[in-house]
Amino acid sequence: MRPKVFVSRIIPEAGLNLIREVCEAEIWPEVMPPPYEVVAEKVKTVDGLLSTLNDRIDAPLIAGAGTQLKVISQMAVGYDNIDAKAAQTRGIVVGNTPGVLTDATADLAFALLLASARRIVEGVEYIRAGKWRTWEPKALLGGDLSGATLGIIGLGRIGEAVARRASGFNMQILAYSPSKNSEDVSRLGIELTSLDTLLSKSDYISIHVPLNAQTRGMINAESLRKMKASAILINTARGPIIDQQALYEAVKAGVIGGAALDVTNPEPMAFDDPLLSLSNVIVVPHIGSASQHTRDKMATMAAENLIAGIYGKPLPNQVII
Ligand code: DGY
Repeated sequence: MRPKVFVSRIIPEAGLNLIREVCEAEIWPEVMPPPYEVVAEKVKTVDGLLSTLNDRIDAPLIAGAGTQLKVISQMAVGYDNIDAKAAQTRGIVVGNTPGVLTDATADLAFALLLASARRIVEGVEYIRAGKWRTWEPKALLGGDLSGATLGIIGLGRIGEAVARRASGFNMQILAYSPSKNSEDVSRLGIELTSLDTLLSKSDYISIHVPLNAQTRGMINAESLRKMKASAILINTARGPIIDQQALYEAVKAGVIGGAALDVTNPEPMAFDDPLLSLSNVIVVPHIGSASQHTRDKMATMAAENLIAGIYGKPLPNQVII
């Protein structure tokens, strides 16, 4: 009998085709993710689960899984929605998709950086509102990138890829990344600093840490007060790293210059969220990895992890905790 798997979303065919070759796959057909109770029911009978960041795979869900469940394969690099420790305790392996989305996510972080520095969204809205009457010497003036300082919080794969882009734009690069040493990063022209120094010296700050107990709420009212009044904060990591109410108050009061977010807390952001009323805040709907090629590679890697786990083989990308 072919192994049974539950795939919690319609993922790109590149991954689905691999899965269908060897498994009996049930694919959740809706645009919206399956309710928690549905996933909790499925894991009682399937050998493998392919999840996305929308699925809450917590300890009770894992405890209720059948003994046949061997693998949870997440189609994302972040897996803060999965209690990986609870899975490990039950002998269930967890896979994720690092590496393949590094460039796409770094591109999006840089796109947000450029868009907020040069007020692209405001410019588009200005035209749509019929305000463009002539070339104006003092309209829509933004900030330069060249010579400005970019502070990168978290120098993993994506943080480093953002640094490479910034170096091409002639930026000074600071990074806060306690696990790195100067030798690791000097070849990239990066200076390692404390978080406080990074916050106070950077013109642009980009977040690239995973969400965990240490990073939840890491950017709060106090850290926002340490930033320059002109600083722009960019987040393509996870929403709960920023205290969003504090961010709103800081931007509204001019404590910082603006923000650009690909991730929010909660997701989706309510359409009447006060942050959306601020012209110097850009919000996009968690599209860091949303290029066709990248999503194909993520689906393929997630499928490969799933299949390996089902057959008790080492996962190409296993989450180690
Ligand atoms: C991830 O992979 O963690 C992103 O947030 C979604 O692509």
